[in-house]
Amino acid sequence: MFISFEGGEGSGKTTVINKLKETLIKANKSVYVTREPGGTKISEAIRHILLDNNSNMSFHTEALLFAASRAEHIDEVIKEKLKTHDIVITDRFLDSSIAYQAFGRDLGVEFILKINDYALNYMPDVTFYIDVEPKDGLARTKNRGKSDRLDNEALSFHEKVRNGYLEVAKMYPERIITIDGDGTVDDIYERVLVHLRKML
Ligand code: TYD
Repeated sequence: MFISFEGGEGSGKTTVINKLKETLIKANKSVYVTREPGGTKISEAIRHILLDNNSNMSFHTEALLFAASRAEHIDEVIKEKLKTHDIVITDRFLDSSIAYQAFGRDLGVEFILKINDYALNYMPDVTFYIDVEPKDGLARTKNRGKSDRLDNEALSFHEKVRNGYLEVAKMYPERIITIDGDGTVDDIYERVLVHLRKML
């Protein structure tokens, strides 16, 4: 089973993924956790370029680098780990590019789907989108300290990203489950488990 987690900044998805991994391992499942952008040597190098506060690049370049990092991630990690593990979980996948680049950067869904055509063959079985108000999510990330090039965008950008996610959830209702991101990480995790218990 291939599962992705999506959400804006400070949605708590990374913590939820770590808790889920522990639970699944206790239930004797083999689990592989990965992330985007990243997950392979080349993709981590691209990640560094993308998130560096000193990287000035056009929005088209940004979208293409995310797509390149994803192609490498699919070929080097996702396809392989799905053969050897019961469950592969990725922290972000194609929906991030739709929310952040198609909507946040106004590049449009058509362009993002075109450059990510390859990834469309390897979509997750299920995606959990953790929905939080951007101002609440950003307040959570302030406690983390270091912020990257995308975290540092204006609140209006993060609001466009959230709107993008809500649109993506409408585009793929059979795959995407929207989870209310209010409350503690334990609350959010419980909401995810309610759905997963039915599936596993
Ligand atoms: P990361 O530190 O992994 O952020 P988070 O903890 O919020 O998941 O940084 C990834 C950043 O890259 C995040 O701001 C979302 C952004 N991103 C895109 O803009 N497009 C994409 O396709 C992906 C995968 C990520």
